[in-house]
Amino acid sequence: MPRPYVLLSAAVSLDGCLDTPPGEPRLLLSNEEDFDRVDSVRASCDAILLGAGTLRADDPRVRVGSAARRAARVGAGLPPHPAKATVTRSGDLDPELRFWHHGGAKFVYAVGRAARDRAVAALGGLATVHQVAEEDVWPQVLEHLHGLGVRRLMVEGGGRIHTQFLRQELADELQLVIAPVVVGRPDAPRMFGPGNYPGGPEHRLALAGTRRIGDVTLLRYATHRRPGAEVQATAADAAWLGEACALAAACPPSTTAFSVGAIVVGADGRELARGHSREGGDARVHAEQAALAKVRGNPGLAGATVYSSLEPCGRRASHPHPCAELIAEAGIRRVVTAWREPDTFVPGANGTERLRARGIAVVEVPEYAEAGRAPNAHLSPGK
Ligand SMILES: NC(=O)c1ccc[n+]([C@@H]2O[C@H](COP(=O)([O-])OP(=O)(O)OC[C@H]3O[C@@H](n4cnc5c(N)ncnc54)[C@H](OP(=O)(O)O)[C@@H]3O)[C@@H](O)[C@H]2O)c1
Ligand SMILES: [Zn+2]
Repeated sequence: MPRPYVLLSAAVSLDGCLDTPPGEPRLLLSNEEDFDRVDSVRASCDAILLGAGTLRADDPRVRVGSAARRAARVGAGLPPHPAKATVTRSGDLDPELRFWHHGGAKFVYAVGRAARDRAVAALGGLATVHQVAEEDVWPQVLEHLHGLGVRRLMVEGGGRIHTQFLRQELADELQLVIAPVVVGRPDAPRMFGPGNYPGGPEHRLALAGTRRIGDVTLLRYATHRRPGAEVQATAADAAWLGEACALAAACPPSTTAFSVGAIVVGADGRELARGHSREGGDARVHAEQAALAKVRGNPGLAGATVYSSLEPCGRRASHPHPCAELIAEAGIRRVVTAWREPDTFVPGANGTERLRARGIAVVEVPEYAEAGRAPNAHLSPGK
């Protein structure tokens, strides 16, 4: 069953709490710089999901705050804000909550007829309400979101939602911010509640990256990675690949090499570097090589994606290390490309196969093949 890539996002105290106990003043677990990072992650997603409990407790707006990020989304053919969704069993949703009056299209998943009727009566036209059956709520929700075109879903809690996603092995990635505070209260909401988790305490999540953000720390984990989840292109992937293809048009012309654009994007959706063929006037420089040279040793590369208008080369005449090898050695695990290298200059370069052989996910987006080929039309490749 098709589902979006699911990213769980939260900030917790040193003792794993999401907040102070209900009814007490809210606790600030983040900081300005991290709010901005969360904004960029939101902007990279097609939809954001929150539990009804968090809507009631925090009354969040849930939107992309940065005008530049909204403009970038619109430029990529996306709505300015991602869609938003919540889930309810009670149907008890206050139409005054800010959630309904900001940001993108709103969806409510109500469990059972009574909850649906109550939500429709409360919200009127503020949101689209879908009824889901009591059994297997989350697969229904995820399948429905996928049907709406959602390929990358950010889940922003609260604890009861995160707990279900982790237990039911529906999360692909966890982005956890640790704040330097201790709540110290047994009745405070926890990120993950008690109970059985698949694999039990022996199951270790794979640490994909760490980053200091002022006085908080971001930890990124791959959770229960579904095979194939990383090989779907999201709306954000399409936007970055489109930009890489546009970058290829800036290459100095050549009759002996392809014109390619490459962009390295961190797990938080921010650009780390970009490069293009023959950058700096060196006729032998490849786009991926130029981009990677700017971020050598960056610890964020393990969670980064390389967008390249042409598949990275698997063999090359001009350099001992083909780009597929440079990408693997940089620790990058995911590549998105528009078209395959034809046999024009180096027969059987097979970069995609070489990357996959090293365990790197390669996503091909044929919708961009034309855009990637265009700056190379004079070489008449791809026939
Ligand atoms: N620090 C952070 O990053 C962060 C992020 C988010 C939230 N929080 C905190 O977390 C707390 C809220 O967490 P929470 O666990 O109480 O609430 P929650 O997880 O946001 O929402 C729980 C509610 O969602 C609905 N729900 C959950 N699972 C469902 C299912 N399988 N089917 C149908 N409906 C379902 C129910 O709504 P109904 O009651 O309507 O049936 C349930 O009461 C707040 O204190 C908030 O500040 C912190
Ligand atoms: Zn190359």
